[in-house]
Amino acid sequence: MSIFKNVAVIGTGVIGTGWVIRCLAHGKKVRAYDINFKHKNNLIKEIKRTWPFVKKMFKKNKLNLHNLSFYTNLHDALTNAEFIFECAPENYTIKTKLLKKIGLYSKPSSIISSSSSGLLPSKIYSKCKHPERGLIGHPFNPVYLLPGIEIVPGKKTKKLFLTKAKKFYESISMSPIMVKKELPGYLADRLQEALWREGLHIINENYATTKELDRAIEDGPGLRYSLMGTFLTFHLAGGNQGMKHMLRQFGPALKLPWTKLKAPKLTKKLSDRIIKGTKSQARGKSVTKLADIRDDYLINLQILRNKYLKKVRN
Ligand SMILES: NC(=O)c1ccc[n+]([C@@H]2O[C@H](COP(=O)([O-])OP(=O)(O)OC[C@H]3O[C@@H](n4cnc5c(N)ncnc54)[C@H](O)[C@@H]3O)[C@@H](O)[C@H]2O)c1
Repeated sequence: MSIFKNVAVIGTGVIGTGWVIRCLAHGKKVRAYDINFKHKNNLIKEIKRTWPFVKKMFKKNKLNLHNLSFYTNLHDALTNAEFIFECAPENYTIKTKLLKKIGLYSKPSSIISSSSSGLLPSKIYSKCKHPERGLIGHPFNPVYLLPGIEIVPGKKTKKLFLTKAKKFYESISMSPIMVKKELPGYLADRLQEALWREGLHIINENYATTKELDRAIEDGPGLRYSLMGTFLTFHLAGGNQGMKHMLRQFGPALKLPWTKLKAPKLTKKLSDRIIKGTKSQARGKSVTKLADIRDDYLINLQILRNKYLKKVRN
């Protein structure tokens, strides 16, 4: 399967700029568009600022700015684009109108991928003539360094385009997560949102400051999160029996008023699903083996992290 060479980035704010940088670093020809021509200068400035990091990350020698062109005419920007990143503001009206135009002006085989953080694809592609090739590719800031991307289908998205999108994102050093079906907020932002809402409750009730709450994540769970997410982490919290023991011990705590978020009922079906899920994530490794890997990782991570922490906290 060929990997697309010509891409268009529509909207060059924080996220659009990130896509431009990542694509240039991977030798793509990029046509950028924004309703505001002044954004061209910001874009060039940001490319130059980030290049030393990008160069190190992707082991690139040369920045080829000839591969970038900037437009304020949408039609021109979409000419020849095989992959289109839609990066306009997070607003149903703006995105629906814009995606309608993109559907009309883009070539028939192109993939349209919205960077939306949580809007439903079926809604934003509802006026688009080609919802079958429209999807969400939700990245994380800074897009030029973080590999995560959630690919979310709309009700009319064709599987072929999802597969092609996955291949394309992999070709620009990303690690796609294929979301089964659309849901508001997708996956990561729902989790982030839960932390955020809970944090706001805690701060509102004056139990902690934002700094203390941030420290609670930065110095504890946050260090583990880049290696293991909540489920695998809790699998290890259950000792040798893993998630099974963890649920037996901490399952009842779901009924305590710890959070303002309503937890789902821990049914047998749900328990089985997460026990099976974490077991599969463990890939045959014992809890002790996984803990060894985690600890080795955490030590190495902290040596590196301390260097950067001084720059952030002083
Ligand atoms: N900022 C983040 O951390 C983040 C992370 C992941 C996803 N996203 C998503 O990425 C998208 C863009 O967010 P952002 O943070 O880059 O916003 P931003 O405000 O920085 O940039 C939006 C850009 O879109 C341009 N624009 C406005 N109307 C337009 C139109 N009709 N056509 C084309 N361009 C238009 C603006 O001039 C601006 O340059 C949103 O959907 C957002 O939810 C943001």
